[in-house]
Amino acid sequence: MTNPKRYLVTSALPYANGLKHVGHLAGAYIPADIYVRYLRAQKRDVVFVCGSDEHGTAIPIQATKEGTTPRAIIDKYHEAMKQDFEDLSMSFDIYHRTSEPIHHETAQEFFTRLNDAGELETKETEQYFDEEAKTFLADRYIKGTCPNCGSDRAFGDQCETCGRTLSPDELINPVSTLSGKTPIKKKTTHWYLPLGKHEQFLREWILEQHKDDWRATVVGQCKSWIEGGLQSRAVTRDLDWGVKVPLKEAKGKVLYVWFDAPIGYISATKQWAIDNKKDWKPYWQDKDTKLVHFVGKDNIVFHCIIFPVMLKLHGDILPENVPANEFLNLEGDKMSTSRNWKLDMRDYINDFVKKENLPTGQAGGGGQCVDMLRYYLTQIAPETKDSEFMWKGFQDAVNSELVSIFGNFVNRTWVLMHKLCGGKVPTLHTGILDDNDKILIGEIENAKAKIETLLEQYKFREALYEVIDLSRKGNQYMQKKEPWIVAKKLAENPEAQKSIDNTMYLCLQLTANLAIFINPFLPNTAKSMLHMMKVVDKLLDWENAGKLKLLSTGYSLREPQLLFRKIEDTEVNEQIEKLKTGLKKMEEPKKEETKTKSIVKPEIQFDDFSKIDLKVGTIISAEKVEKADKLLKLSVDLGFETRTIISGIALHFKPEDIIGKQVTVVTNLAPRKMRGIESNGMILTAEDKDGKLQLLKPENLVSPGSNVS
Ligand code: 2FM
Ligand code: ZN
Repeated sequence: MTNPKRYLVTSALPYANGLKHVGHLAGAYIPADIYVRYLRAQKRDVVFVCGSDEHGTAIPIQATKEGTTPRAIIDKYHEAMKQDFEDLSMSFDIYHRTSEPIHHETAQEFFTRLNDAGELETKETEQYFDEEAKTFLADRYIKGTCPNCGSDRAFGDQCETCGRTLSPDELINPVSTLSGKTPIKKKTTHWYLPLGKHEQFLREWILEQHKDDWRATVVGQCKSWIEGGLQSRAVTRDLDWGVKVPLKEAKGKVLYVWFDAPIGYISATKQWAIDNKKDWKPYWQDKDTKLVHFVGKDNIVFHCIIFPVMLKLHGDILPENVPANEFLNLEGDKMSTSRNWKLDMRDYINDFVKKENLPTGQAGGGGQCVDMLRYYLTQIAPETKDSEFMWKGFQDAVNSELVSIFGNFVNRTWVLMHKLCGGKVPTLHTGILDDNDKILIGEIENAKAKIETLLEQYKFREALYEVIDLSRKGNQYMQKKEPWIVAKKLAENPEAQKSIDNTMYLCLQLTANLAIFINPFLPNTAKSMLHMMKVVDKLLDWENAGKLKLLSTGYSLREPQLLFRKIEDTEVNEQIEKLKTGLKKMEEPKKEETKTKSIVKPEIQFDDFSKIDLKVGTIISAEKVEKADKLLKLSVDLGFETRTIISGIALHFKPEDIIGKQVTVVTNLAPRKMRGIESNGMILTAEDKDGKLQLLKPENLVSPGSNVS
């Protein structure tokens, strides 16, 4: 396999609307950083770009939440995220922002080129408009009842309760979150990317060309998108926050955030080129560039389908791979910002990295904590399926692998080398190499190819395993050779010093190799090792891996320093407690909500009440509504007629248990459609404080249709 001339590596641009958690770090950032550090050690031409995604409705929504402006939000979170990434040793060549003028110009040029070439379609549609706020409503600004589960926490893009993706038209009783009013429908024109026209290209490019070298999870997701029918995607929005659509007739419209965000990779490259007096063009236009996007699984469709179609139409290169990761759960539950069930990078930095007394860059300093997290997140990386961050798992990985295997080997080598070889690299006596020495030499020489192949295939978990395994072999070797025992017999057999020299020589060369191999994963550890070896960064060049003369005979080395400290039980218990307390805090306001709910509603007049027609009905049939967990379809006999009523009680009653039961029915409620079925009325229930429901019914049977007053 020949290497490409250059690499452009990207990590998903995080939204500048809040701090990011370790799930994000494990998904799109650490793997990219490992890959790039490896490429740099290989002396390949590589540019690693990232930056803040500062557009989309998420930003103004956060501004409203925090009572400030969108500009203040992006400034605050851009700086915070940039700092967090730096504190965790992410080595971007540039961390850019999509609010920069160079990005706006680049995104507008991109749109113009596609539009001028007739590659975009325009369509007039009716969309929700808030008459009071005088604005079209982005999907996220419309709230209503979920047609799937009946929850009232559904938005125009997604239901917060059941997670189903929605379109505003599917919401029952839509309401504007800006004014609280029911929005009207108004005509508006938008520009669309007709993905359907590119189906053949996508099929060939992904499902044939890349079916074996892309991750199965990625190809699988693409396949289901392609086979589900590729719809045209709107690339513009009626919004005043974002990149303006560069057309006179598109006043008040911006580019859809998912159109402009990936172009952010290009504008970041341009800015990097300006800062470094380089040409950005080959990185996006020369076929001999390998473009790799690191993302989480929620971004697959944008990086594998939509952006590639845009790139093809614009005449740019296509990604060579999109090694997307699955999700990382935390202590047995999905990470969630809204439920405060998460570990923010910032929290880890404050609770671990900043608590160390020594500065990052010295053995035992803050860098060891950075590397501990990088280690654990790589060891559990969700490369093929969702995985789990457990604090006890973190403790175990650090204490039994980093401390007891890797750190232990390096420390033993250093202590013994000072004790048995006077602090200097001894001579290798090749004539007396025994089988154990030869096996270890073979392991060192073979490790390079193994680790390299895994890294080139984006199998970071396995590659890291190989590095630790090599240090495990070092420990086993030392255990077999027992140079401290041999040393005891030196008085009677001075020749034995040669065997000690060989053992320590090989352990030292193995340590130097371990520094090279661990460097992409744990760069602070590699630095500490360089310090102990008194050598410069150059030693870490990948071409040195597998060599046995990295440290020269006679060279004196520094005193040992412990590379990692142990993680104490108290530390992990505190973190678990913190997590639970955070969750409780989020739940408390909910209790408040329930309390307020039970407080009497504002006073109404008798006339208001008398408008409601309440009658007793008998349920004559009940069945589940397909694909709606919470809904039951009931036939209710009201004496004068039988009504179909859809009710959100399926989680509380089995259909067969309520047939024949009498219920109180609101009979004059306007009909409404749920899951395509018209509901004509509503049945009344009483909700206990623990959330249990009971049907509201007369004490004794009455004839169906009896009035309730
Ligand atoms: O999911 C997200 O956080 C998006 N802001 C990712 C954008 S990636 C790229 F397209 F910029
Ligand atoms: Zn729902």
